[in-house]
Amino acid sequence: MLKGKHIVIGVTGGIAAHRALDLASNLVKAGVEVHVIMTAGAREFIRPLAFEAISGNRVHVDTFKAPPGWRYPHLELARRADLAVIVPATANILAKLACGMADDLLTTTVLAMVCPVLVCPAMNAYMYRNQAVQENLSCLRRRGFIIVEPSVGRQACGDEGPGRLADVAVIMERIGQVLDPPKGDLAGITALVTAGGTREPIDPVRYISNRSSGKMGYALARAAANRGAGVYLVSGPTNLEPPEGVKLVHVETAAEMFRAVMELYPRVDVVVKAAAVADYRPRVTATQKIKKEDDGLVLELEKNVDILLELGKNKRHQLLVGFAAETEDLINNARRKLVKKNLDMLVANDVMQPGAGFGTDTNIAKLIFPDGRIKSLPLMDKLELSDRIWDEVLQLRANAGQKDTAD
Ligand code: PMT
Repeated sequence: MLKGKHIVIGVTGGIAAHRALDLASNLVKAGVEVHVIMTAGAREFIRPLAFEAISGNRVHVDTFKAPPGWRYPHLELARRADLAVIVPATANILAKLACGMADDLLTTTVLAMVCPVLVCPAMNAYMYRNQAVQENLSCLRRRGFIIVEPSVGRQACGDEGPGRLADVAVIMERIGQVLDPPKGDLAGITALVTAGGTREPIDPVRYISNRSSGKMGYALARAAANRGAGVYLVSGPTNLEPPEGVKLVHVETAAEMFRAVMELYPRVDVVVKAAAVADYRPRVTATQKIKKEDDGLVLELEKNVDILLELGKNKRHQLLVGFAAETEDLINNARRKLVKKNLDMLVANDVMQPGAGFGTDTNIAKLIFPDGRIKSLPLMDKLELSDRIWDEVLQLRANAGQKDTAD
């Protein structure tokens, strides 16, 4: 499956650099044409000759020295590559990639690449846990880099913790998955999922929000991506890591979520709105922290735009799935929302039931359809519920296709 592919291995300066030799060797054995770029730091740990002996190709180290027949090394390497893998990726290369720097051959080549880039961090555990490193990794994930998480254990320096380069077998497996992705039943569908609660600022330090953790929306995004869909995830603030392969758009307020969703709406086939959008926001946001007075404080609220209602009004080819978080009269309230917002399906959860709704890993839902059907689902993991919801979406799309043909 890897035979005939071109893979660029970027080696940076860490003690795990020698493990990149094993990776190069495994790839060559699998029939891959391997080109290696070494940074100056990497060459402190290993000599280029070792990679040349394994790959059968000259190691690339200089932005300004092109091999015979090549005009610009970085563009040639980027154009030929089916995939690039940075092994090991030091804290320094993560920072440079996150900033979009191009100050050596490796960074310049990666900037010019349109192929998938796998990044395999390896460093001291304290460095790995550092907020700057974690923020750089989050930034790279958001931009579509695939991070092969390091393993946890005793390190060469004697410290314990996360930061050991992932096993070469794991890196090989990820390369295989990326170059030959599973073809799921949602392949070809572009989905927009919203998640989390919005925050409506009162003053610079306070806001109105709700108890949504984002778990339901992130599970929906993960399940869709696992099944081959292209996924945009528009998310309010959460503590969750974005699922791999998902394009994440961060928002804070309902107004920001509205803008992000409306911009993406024409490009997507399905919208699933699991977010708990604040219905109201303070009419005025104070520019300074509001001082404590002896009396109470009256906050005047005004209505936020109902995003799902607007989507329903402007529906073209899209399928619209809403959620309803109810504390009483679940079915009747949910049915009213389904009709008012012009939805194709509504997932109603009674958030008073143990194991359902906000913050939990599980949910209990009723799927409600415009033709009056109701499917009651038992308590299940949010990821399993997500799969059930995507199964229904597929069925609704199939029905819509049959109707179009009949028309
Ligand atoms: O995030 P978790 O902790 O996992 O919790 C999951 C959940 C309980 C938040 C989720 O399962 C859920 O029920 N989400 C919808 C919550 C909600 O806001 O329900 P609602 O009945 O107020 O709104 C109905 C629908 O309209 C929702 O799809 C909502 O996204 C949408 N809406 C609401 C208000 C608004 N201004 N704009 C909207 O688009």
